[in-house]
Amino acid sequence: MTKRKGKAKASALQIIAPERGELYSIAVMTKKFFPYTHLSFADIEARVKKDVKYLAARAGGQTVGYIDYSPGEPAKIWGLAVLEEWRGKGIGEALFSRALDEVRKAGAKKVEIITTTDNAPALRLYAKHGFEYDRPYGNQLPGKEVVVMSKELIKATKAK
Ligand SMILES: CC(C)(COP(=O)(O)OP(=O)(O)OC[C@H]1O[C@@H](n2cnc3c(N)ncnc32)[C@H](O)[C@@H]1OP(=O)(O)O)[C@@H](O)C(=O)NCCC(=O)NCCS
Repeated sequence: MTKRKGKAKASALQIIAPERGELYSIAVMTKKFFPYTHLSFADIEARVKKDVKYLAARAGGQTVGYIDYSPGEPAKIWGLAVLEEWRGKGIGEALFSRALDEVRKAGAKKVEIITTTDNAPALRLYAKHGFEYDRPYGNQLPGKEVVVMSKELIKATKAK
């Protein structure tokens, strides 16, 4: 697990809408960190042309992480990953916060994210942002418990 004490923030970090070259790096990360999605570069390009938004993190002259999400209702965050050597520097946090801001701006009242109960870094990040267990997601990954976590973005106001 990434060393967490005394972490240094990634300097000159940019969170940007990816162009084709960055999408290629994102496809490589998707294959590495989420192989079970079977998403190819062409699939990712097709997702971008439809309703899936991608954000890339750039630091040190390279693409070091990404997040993808669909605004909708509920909004859905599909994937979030940072290259191992760039973890623990606030990049996951920056990507996640930005995606949450974007879906909030798009008017979503609720946002969902799928994760596994053994993913301590992800669970901690999501809990820090107020996400809570919502429901089981099914048996998509053998040997793992896959769950949906969610957060209400706009609290219902009480009728007077
Ligand atoms: C989850 C992931 C994106 C975090 O990225 P990161 O850039 O290292 O995260 P940050 O440095 O921005 O840390 C943000 C928060 O994440 C949590 N976190 C990050 N690393 C952690 C670790 N090793 N242990 C526990 N919590 C951790 C913490 O809550 C942290 O905030 P805090 O330091 O204020 O407590 C990264 O570990 C990753 O890419 N994992 C592999 C892919 C993956 O599992 N993605 C999630 C799919 S559901």
